[in-house]
Amino acid sequence: MLLTWLAPCVGQTPPPWSLRNTALLAANCVTCHGPGGQPPAGSTGSIPALRGLSSDALLERMQAFKAGRVANATVMPLLMQGYDAAQMQALAEWFASPAADKP
Ligand code: HEC
Repeated sequence: MLLTWLAPCVGQTPPPWSLRNTALLAANCVTCHGPGGQPPAGSTGSIPALRGLSSDALLERMQAFKAGRVANATVMPLLMQGYDAAQMQALAEWFASPAADKP
């Protein structure tokens, strides 16, 4: 009987990164890129905003950093070595989605 109940769940793998878990991942990024990926108004640093980029563009940038394809990059190539494909995808979607959706 229990098996009958469980059967529909088999094969339904949950998304690898929930919104809450992705927020924990993103916490590392916002220390440099600003809250929600937007540097505070008036900040003059060289760290770009992540807000306003599509998830595709964000993912492409992250993959390029990880693969060493961004010639003049400083920290991002090394940093992205610590993230796998699923984590990068989750982060790209998190920063591309409206701030109001964040936990
Ligand atoms: C130590 C500070 C720091 C942290 C932490 C950091 N970044 Fe960056 N990020 C930078 C800098 C600086 C650049 C500019 C490229 C470079 O010099 O590496 C950048 C560039 C980027 C870009 C390219 C944006 C564009 O317009 O081209 C993306 C995307 C990005 N970071 C995503 C992330 C994500 C996702 C995280 C968290 C996993 C993260 N960053 C964490 C400093 C940081």
